[in-house]
Amino acid sequence: MRSSVVLLLLVTALVGCGGNPTPVGTRVDDIADKLGPDFELAPDAFSPDAVNFMIVGDWGRNGFFNQRNVGRAMGVTAAEIGARFTISTGDNFYTAGVQSIDDPKWDRSFEDIYDAPSLQSRWYAVLGNHDWQGDYTAQINYTEVSDRWFLPARYYTEIIAVDDTTEALFVYLDTTPLSEREPNARKYERTEDWNPDRQIEWLDATLAASEAEWKIVVGHHPIYVGSVRYENNPRLIEDLVPILERHGAQVYFAGHDHNLQHLRPEGSPVDYLISGAGSLTRGVVPTENTLFALRVSGYMAASLTRDALYVHAFDEDGRRVYATNIPRRRLDTHSDREISDETDLSDPEIRRDLEAATTDDGEE
Ligand SMILES: [Fe+2]
Repeated sequence: MRSSVVLLLLVTALVGCGGNPTPVGTRVDDIADKLGPDFELAPDAFSPDAVNFMIVGDWGRNGFFNQRNVGRAMGVTAAEIGARFTISTGDNFYTAGVQSIDDPKWDRSFEDIYDAPSLQSRWYAVLGNHDWQGDYTAQINYTEVSDRWFLPARYYTEIIAVDDTTEALFVYLDTTPLSEREPNARKYERTEDWNPDRQIEWLDATLAASEAEWKIVVGHHPIYVGSVRYENNPRLIEDLVPILERHGAQVYFAGHDHNLQHLRPEGSPVDYLISGAGSLTRGVVPTENTLFALRVSGYMAASLTRDALYVHAFDEDGRRVYATNIPRRRLDTHSDREISDETDLSDPEIRRDLEAATTDDGEE
């Protein structure tokens, strides 16, 4: 009886975020072939003048399930690109978050894993559903005792200067209350703090008030996704997508699914990226919105310039498996779709009008 309880606990720990225990790092449904040998990397991506940073999620497993390998590869990539910071897309600590700032998981899953000198800059974190199974306030309080961990509140913003005339607003969300809505007190702690409506109002007002040229939003739960476990999230599509589109957000980074993905619905001005492969992996299922999806342990690195966000994905050995260039404004979306084929997009005046049409300015 006792051994079966131990076995049950072990299996529960292995399963983690859900689904069956899966072979680690196994490549299936690899559609990275699209990249092809002729894919040209943008020459100005990851220049020293750009804002270069790392993105990793769903990692905290005491170094197991490839977490340590991913951490090691991240250290190499971060040094190569001169990463200024790292974004953690949540599920920072399995299976049930942390209970205090002294929880041994801080060393076992964070400090001792991401120990490369290149990873000692700030880690902007969001909370995942597994973090809500512990005391989320411990992750906020660790901000005070750590030189790099940064989670000052459940949701928060940071403004970063890209160059003398270009700012980027990063918005970090707490998506478990938005995705699940009904507090499940048996599953999560402190759900009395959820108040999803207040966070949605805050997001709307925060993006509306910002004049930053770049608006990048980070949350744990994907909005669009395809895998053996997750499909598009109708609640987040209803609550978040109109806000992102209305205020000109270009990118939404998520984790939660244990793989690397890039999706964009047809006509959408927002690119959706998933970097949730910091340890265990999960099989991907391409959808109509999928541009890239790969089951592999790994991470992403990004390079933000005035005109583009370059995002590259890497596996646990530091091999690049995908690269994409996201423009500051997509000219093939929204009002731009009304452009006739004869429109001369090389005309600077026409381009200026088109760009103005895709900002908030005319909507007040
Ligand atoms: Fe999750």
